[in-house]
Amino acid sequence: MQYGYFDDDHREYVITQPDTPLPWMNYLGTDDYFGMISNTAGGCSFYRDARLRRLTRYRHNGAPLDLGGRYLYLRDELDGDYWSPSWQPTRSPLDAYECRHGLSYTCIVSERAGIRAEILYFVPPGETLEVWRLRVRNDRGTRADLSVFSLVEFCLWDALDDATNFQRNFSVGEVEVVDGVIYHKSEYRERRNHFAYFACSEPIAGFDTQRDVFLGPNRGWDSPLAVERGRCSDSIAHGWAPIGSHHIRLSLAPSEGRDVVFILGYSENPAEAKFDPPGTQTINKARVRPVIDRWLATDEVEGALRSLRDSWDELLSVLEVDTPDPDTNRMVNIWNPYQCMATFNLSRSISFYESGIGRGMGFRDSSQDILGFVGMVPARARQRLLDLAATELPSGGAYHQYQPLTKRGNDAIGSGFNDDPLWLVLAVSAYIKESGDAGVLDELVPYDNAPGSETPLSEHLHRCIRYTLDRLGPHGLPLIGRADWNDCLNLNCFSESSGESFQTTENREGGVAESLFIAGQFVLASKELAGVVRLRGDDEQAASLEAAAQRMIATVEDHGWDGEWFLRAYDSLGGVVGSHTNEEGQIFAEPQGMCVMAGIGLSDGTAAAALASVRDRLASEHGIMLVHPPFTRYHLELGEITSYPPGYKENGGVFCHANPWIMIAETILGDGEAAFDYYKRTNPSARAPISEVHRCEPYVYAQMIAGRDAASFGEAKNSWLTGSASWHFTAISQWILGVRPELDGLRIDPALPSAWPGFTASRRWRGATYEITVHQEPGVKGRVRRLLVDGESIEGNLVRPALVGSTVKVEASVESDLPLR
Ligand code: GLC
Ligand code: GLC
Repeated sequence: MQYGYFDDDHREYVITQPDTPLPWMNYLGTDDYFGMISNTAGGCSFYRDARLRRLTRYRHNGAPLDLGGRYLYLRDELDGDYWSPSWQPTRSPLDAYECRHGLSYTCIVSERAGIRAEILYFVPPGETLEVWRLRVRNDRGTRADLSVFSLVEFCLWDALDDATNFQRNFSVGEVEVVDGVIYHKSEYRERRNHFAYFACSEPIAGFDTQRDVFLGPNRGWDSPLAVERGRCSDSIAHGWAPIGSHHIRLSLAPSEGRDVVFILGYSENPAEAKFDPPGTQTINKARVRPVIDRWLATDEVEGALRSLRDSWDELLSVLEVDTPDPDTNRMVNIWNPYQCMATFNLSRSISFYESGIGRGMGFRDSSQDILGFVGMVPARARQRLLDLAATELPSGGAYHQYQPLTKRGNDAIGSGFNDDPLWLVLAVSAYIKESGDAGVLDELVPYDNAPGSETPLSEHLHRCIRYTLDRLGPHGLPLIGRADWNDCLNLNCFSESSGESFQTTENREGGVAESLFIAGQFVLASKELAGVVRLRGDDEQAASLEAAAQRMIATVEDHGWDGEWFLRAYDSLGGVVGSHTNEEGQIFAEPQGMCVMAGIGLSDGTAAAALASVRDRLASEHGIMLVHPPFTRYHLELGEITSYPPGYKENGGVFCHANPWIMIAETILGDGEAAFDYYKRTNPSARAPISEVHRCEPYVYAQMIAGRDAASFGEAKNSWLTGSASWHFTAISQWILGVRPELDGLRIDPALPSAWPGFTASRRWRGATYEITVHQEPGVKGRVRRLLVDGESIEGNLVRPALVGSTVKVEASVESDLPLR
């Protein structure tokens, strides 16, 4: 069953009923001010950091599920009937409802009793505020006298403190209301120089800022007393819970419409100019008032919306494809890159599933996210790389997380996830392939942000590689440390106390447990760095990196092969993990993907055998499970993975992030059919017809889909902020469609399903545009055999970088099964 449909022309997903299986979310904001918004207007906003500068409250995991939001109430003055045009929070029946989630905006339209309301929400580019434009129309044959009530609940800035420190917070809330503008200024009297404001373009009939007064005793958001009786009390919040609510009255003739603009924003004052007049406690509004005036003028809205659309046009025009498959087209052209930008902006901070107070920017997460957005915003990717590298430690290890506001490593989590540094190497190489900017390697970057410790970025990368080589275990394989990419395989943890963190508890010495995943990742990263180093003329370094990779490959061959697939690890007791000799957890997906991507086993058949085992044992109709059979009980020596019931999360869920590795591996072996088959299984758009099973949004990837052994096989969780976004984008665009930036050219190397007659793509790369047509003889399984560049036939399938500003016509023919090179 579907709850809506894709409107590809407008690049929107249109939700046609409010009671979706779960709240279906979107994000607002592209620069510094962000918000998330559900299809019933739930969500919250923040400035830069979802934890430290939260503007409004959202009740994660409440009941009903999605409360706290950007709410309006409409009230008919004739009979006192009131409702929410976004359905929540009153959940009154609506005669019509539609929510359009677009690129950084959401528009909710509804009708009740002849009153049509359309609310458009977005953040104007470059501003630290959000606009809500309410468009009401009277479709009755008679005059309508209406009241509109707005509502936000303010968060007292630090979202963790806000949710926990009630003995203080019930006493610190402060507001000002001046000229109809509600200012939230809790803690402004002391060390905060920032405040929030909530304004409205109509003259107001009243306002409330004290939650209890607006709601009335013992009431919830669904039946506020102020709305029920049709007037606010002009309450001024003192402590407790400050809110913002405007009351406005509209009298509309038949067919008359009206636009009302609300703005919610964030503003800062210089410390020495906080108050006006000086010496008082009144906010100095000299800077903010012109901003408010500008955005309350309804004609600013259209222009800002246009520039928001233009900025997305620009970003999405980097790659545009036309394939025979509509699900592929809309994910590649619209939603997948859009989701990649969300992970760029928000990492894993805040979503319906992430509270915004748990995690900062993850080192490995953010490094991998770069793969997805580097094509769209190379300059910002460059800065991100330098920020990440500055949290590297002198040892080559890395802080596992850093805080976006301070950009400093998070001491509470520390370091010791031994895969982390290698992701930086892969991210830098992806950046250079995209931009051609090898000069980034010369940037001076400190370690642990310590002034004076700077070395060129290239040295940081060499230390990342050495970090692995300095930490080899008994078999010569990389030591796993706290965990590798699979956060839940905690081989040095041995936790017997409930409540202990699997992520940070390390009870074993750590000198024994080894990871096959890191082994594969090391080979891949060493080869990538060798390529980069060779580009700069250092053949000796390159050769030594390649030799290190070869030695690791030999070690994997000797100690990492289980007979039909790659092992996962050796545990702290010397036992094997991910072997047919284990009772549970016999095969893991991630080492199969990573080792084949690194080129291990391509010539001796082990790669093909590993992928066949994945197909036999891990592939399900809902995607590739991470491990099988899942663990049915807690294994002290394996850690968190065995804490999940079978089929969920890392314990045998379809962990979407790892699926593209298998897709890429299949293309490397030349099986486009298999790669695309997997691609379709997790493609959210292709899963839209089974939304009652999938339950998450059909336009973005989720971290996990419950695996075969779960009670809810096929049910997705943790949508939006996941590495699944960047890896799926990489798999489909660079490997299946095969338009792949390399250091010295654009590789055209598709591995397609055999029924396709081909596809076309337009790719902007290093300032030139490549108009690519791929023809495939139907029924043929093969690779590109002939390539015409501007009509000239060339050797191989690598198109050299063209002049900036030029357009290059590329025609490729996929012809037969013979290997190309
Ligand atoms: C989560 C984490 C990511 C980790 C993955 C697998 O998605 O954000 O860092 O690699 O889980 O455990
Ligand atoms: C848990 C999750 C994992 C995530 C980690 C982040 O271990 O299962 O997916 O990466 O928490 O802290």
